[in-house]
Amino acid sequence: MSLNEQTKAIQSFITKHSKVSDIPARELSDFYIQLIDCLVDHNHQYYIEDKPLISDKEYDDLFSYLKKIEEAHPEIITSNSPTQGLIGQISEWFQQAKHMTKLMSLENTYNAQDLKERDTRAKKIVEKNNSQVLSGGSLKFSVEPKFDGLSVELIYEKWIFKQAITRWDGRVGEDITVNMKTIKNIPQKLKDPIDISVRGEILMPKSVWKEINKEREEDGETPFANTRNAAAGSIKLLDSAEVARRGLVCYIYDVLKIEDGKLKMDILQFLWLPVFKWKKEADTIDEVIKICLDEKVKKELDSQDIEFDGLVIKVQNEEQREIIWATDHHPRRAVAYKFPAQLAATQVLSVDFQVGRTWIITPVANLEPVQLSWAKLQRVSLHNFDFIKDKDIHLHDWIWLQRSGEVIPYIVSVITDRRTGEEKIIHPPKVCPSCNEAVMQKDMHYYCVNEHCPEKTKQQIQHFVSKNCMDIMGIGESIVDLLVENKIIENIADIYKLSDPTIQIQLRKFPWFGDKKVTEIAKGVEESKHKALRRLLNGLWISHVGKKMAQDIASQIEEGRWKIENVDNLEKAITDITFLDSIYWIWEKTVESITTFFHNKHNLKLLEQLEKAGINIDPNKYTDLIKASEAKGSFSITGSFDLPREKIAELFQQQGYLLHESPTKSTDFMLIGEKAGSKKKKAQELGLIIYEWRESITKQFPFLKTIITETNKPKTQSLF
Ligand code: IVH
Repeated sequence: MSLNEQTKAIQSFITKHSKVSDIPARELSDFYIQLIDCLVDHNHQYYIEDKPLISDKEYDDLFSYLKKIEEAHPEIITSNSPTQGLIGQISEWFQQAKHMTKLMSLENTYNAQDLKERDTRAKKIVEKNNSQVLSGGSLKFSVEPKFDGLSVELIYEKWIFKQAITRWDGRVGEDITVNMKTIKNIPQKLKDPIDISVRGEILMPKSVWKEINKEREEDGETPFANTRNAAAGSIKLLDSAEVARRGLVCYIYDVLKIEDGKLKMDILQFLWLPVFKWKKEADTIDEVIKICLDEKVKKELDSQDIEFDGLVIKVQNEEQREIIWATDHHPRRAVAYKFPAQLAATQVLSVDFQVGRTWIITPVANLEPVQLSWAKLQRVSLHNFDFIKDKDIHLHDWIWLQRSGEVIPYIVSVITDRRTGEEKIIHPPKVCPSCNEAVMQKDMHYYCVNEHCPEKTKQQIQHFVSKNCMDIMGIGESIVDLLVENKIIENIADIYKLSDPTIQIQLRKFPWFGDKKVTEIAKGVEESKHKALRRLLNGLWISHVGKKMAQDIASQIEEGRWKIENVDNLEKAITDITFLDSIYWIWEKTVESITTFFHNKHNLKLLEQLEKAGINIDPNKYTDLIKASEAKGSFSITGSFDLPREKIAELFQQQGYLLHESPTKSTDFMLIGEKAGSKKKKAQELGLIIYEWRESITKQFPFLKTIITETNKPKTQSLF
């Protein structure tokens, strides 16, 4: 029986025997063992595989039923019961480490009634111990967001960050110190020389998660279901350079241990530890409930770049906290309120196949349209055939859909109870849905290997002209379809034919192409020839080379001893292993795919065609907005500003300054915002003129007067 089936059987047993006393005596012991096995397996899915099969609520229901059995029959408690602390297996890659104090978990509540009950219980304990502490008969609370990430203990000795340990069973965890050091918002040194151990949550911002999932889909890997899985999967990687690339953040919310007499309000902030600045105060449980159920609160938190799965309600008053301190597993001074999961049930009507630019054919399910939070969903990716097999998805199955991180819907599980026997196996494609050529299978994927497959070509072109690549105006999706279907362009280099007068005459014959459109496209195409090398590198759509990596490669060429004047030079530089190794965070997989790309004859021909068309490949000669020879000067920019950095760079470019991604000897000046790091140091070493982002800068650059005043001096550009 699969874990899914076993869980369903247990859930229906519990529904039938809602009270433990309803369980027939002869079935009790067997059921108890089954329930433990089931919970242990779910713990393994959650903690080790990072692929939970059931929702937190379902898990909690199973867990509290187990507790009820053990309360009624303490004689049967076994040491492997999850109530006794141990959870699954610890990852063998990391050293085990002991926590300073036990890292407890919070009890979850799901509605107003749960919260009221907790309040009454806590009040009773306080009253019993010291009724004076209950001012006006109430407990005072604070309400904070509940981070949906991975709990971690950070230990500082005197000033210095010493160790990071994952929660695991609360007593022992994995020592992830090396990887933790790659998380940029965690200070290596505190403001004061204090011995302190704190608790926080490791998270992947939603924006990073989306980017990484895009890359994973493109590489044919199953995307991370949510930011929590992505954070958990990333912090436990063996390669710390790759962990650094994952853009994780960490927020601290609790002090576990501190030198005597040093604990005070706001100690975390005082020490420069990162705390999330969203907190509400409530004098009564009714006020807490109002906050928990307030749609505005939910919306506000949803709009952040961090995923929250609820709120944490903490008793504020120090004396009250002391009295109600803790049970064995949960602190009573805090409780979680979980937001209702965004789940919807719907049916798989049919399955389509889509071929992408990496040649992988992805199965996509067409659904009975269903409303999930604010959007109507009709399609969901099935990713690959391993995913279909793992989740046991069939045609006509009913499924649970979940939406996480606002956009991407995900299939949580099949609703096996709703099967009618009419369900059919989903067969892999035999031919490419676009060009009808036979497909090739490798591992879990099916590939279209036809170099000229029109769908692949269309996607490559769309990417090449997109904003982060050559940014060519006027060539939208439907125009690309039309150009490819009519064989006017067959690859990305053919785009440059569009400014050719004979092709323009041909274009005007199509109803969509008026004079204005044809001129707009020609202008965009011509302008793109002078754009930065990083745009071209991103546009080539080399596996693992996205916007950031393309920029790193271009900057490295710009700074290094490489003289790039033609495709030949570019190929030689880029495939030189010492060159690639000199890029700080580069990954073996990336080096491999860059080398493969530049060693492929077809790709080299394409590059030569682009060169012939007149596209710029010299990293020092680009003119995104102006021509290098006409530039007033060159500048580089670093740090955080009160408006997006790109916007500021664009303003300078519009004024005729040339942007250098990183400062070099030939850079004229450097613009510096808050928290500028290595680039600022480099600019100082190079002896460049440095302009801080404050009002005085308008003396030098009067065009900034409209956007900079003394009131908007640099603010920290945090994630929120
Ligand atoms: S306070 C004594 N505050 O939620 C326990 N926990 O079981 C102190 N969590 O993994 C916890 N956001 O790590 C606290 N603002 C927050 C939190 C938070 C997330 C985590 C906690 C644990 C889970 C609850």
